[in-house]
Amino acid sequence: MSNYFHYRGDRLYAEQVPLADIAAQFDTPCYVYSRAALTDSLRQFTDALQGREHLICYAVKANSNLAILNVFARLGAGFDIVSGGELQRVLAAGGDARKVVFSGVGKSVAEMLLALDAGILCFNVESAAELERLNEVAGSMGKIAPVSLRVNPDVDAKTHPYISTGLKQNKFGVAYDEAIALYRKARDLPHLRLTGIDCHIGSQLTETSPFIAATEKILALVDTLAGEGIRLEHIDLGGGLGIRYHDETPPAIADYVAALLGALRGRSEKLILEPGRVLAGNAGVLLTRVEYLKHGEEKNFAIVDAAMNDLMRPALYDAFHEILPVCRQPSPQPSPACGGGSERERQSLLYEIVGPICETGDFIGHARNLAIAPQALLAVLSAGAYGMSMSSNYNTRPRAAEVVVDGNTVHLARERETVQQLYAGEKLI
Ligand code: LLP
Repeated sequence: MSNYFHYRGDRLYAEQVPLADIAAQFDTPCYVYSRAALTDSLRQFTDALQGREHLICYAVKANSNLAILNVFARLGAGFDIVSGGELQRVLAAGGDARKVVFSGVGKSVAEMLLALDAGILCFNVESAAELERLNEVAGSMGKIAPVSLRVNPDVDAKTHPYISTGLKQNKFGVAYDEAIALYRKARDLPHLRLTGIDCHIGSQLTETSPFIAATEKILALVDTLAGEGIRLEHIDLGGGLGIRYHDETPPAIADYVAALLGALRGRSEKLILEPGRVLAGNAGVLLTRVEYLKHGEEKNFAIVDAAMNDLMRPALYDAFHEILPVCRQPSPQPSPACGGGSERERQSLLYEIVGPICETGDFIGHARNLAIAPQALLAVLSAGAYGMSMSSNYNTRPRAAEVVVDGNTVHLARERETVQQLYAGEKLI
């Protein structure tokens, strides 16, 4: 658990605010983020990078709420986007287009127009066809597009196969052996300007060695290119640093950065990083209430009001998220934080924590030891990244509210959706 979500007595708090108060005011399910936690994780990067020209481009996909983007924008961060929609969010949140890098294998003409018009820092181009399209689109606008090639270094990130991106068999980036030829091609296209090189090998990495292996391969390319007179301004080493969900032991941000800086010794190019999860993951929890306890023959179920549509990671990756009771010692007196129930119900038992959706995959956690009563509040930890941003409306479930806690104040960052909003664009035939 991070310092920003902690028990005071037997109650769980976000910074100085009891989570039970947030549930009472905003209802559940509700995402709760800590501004101090967001700020602290970004500062760890900027502190570790002091004295080195750098730009931290927060990976917007991890959590794209405007309030979160605004917190990072105010701290001077840049942004890594993967769609025109994300660019519009960054601009709406007060982000600086000149600090935006645009990743992704499938950029559309409309997205290129939007990004060129906004004046982003660079396009992380992932194929020869994309280079040609970008050259044409920039030409049609009378502009020069800044380009970095995303190179696939063919390094095993040793993470979940769905979030590993730097192997030959993945769809991402240009093949390592073709990179030099593509740089030559890009150099000769009139409406492109080569500014950098980038790679991103995967997400939730818990070791530094794959990052270093990728960096070394990228640096070898930088040197070959320099030999041909192609001098790059920046090296972007992507995101991917993991966090602790359960018993993982990822390197601290400072150690990860120190290892990268070691590999970059003697280089003057600007360093760009694209962290997502490590900035936001442990800065948020999903607050949910137990609707029912169901004691089956083989298993006990706690049916909560959050589901796989709110937090998809357990269903999709079999991901583990710690689940804590908001009230650690439920008393016989029912209360809004602790719920109420018989003594038997309040006993510590192994529970399957499941949602109300009609799918067996709709679980938030397996076999969790909890002493909870019906109506008790639970906090699903490490939900600040890839939680809300991957949510859906499956089963016509309005998306959760989102709040940002800042000391002892709570800002509503997104209203709970209404069912009317969900079908507002639909028509009877
Ligand atoms: N840059 C690029 C080009 C990326 O594709 C990603 C993530 C990042 C940066 C940020 O990576 P991070 O620092 O957050 O690891 N939905 C999955 C994670 C998918 C990550 C996709 N790309 C999950 O919930 O675990």
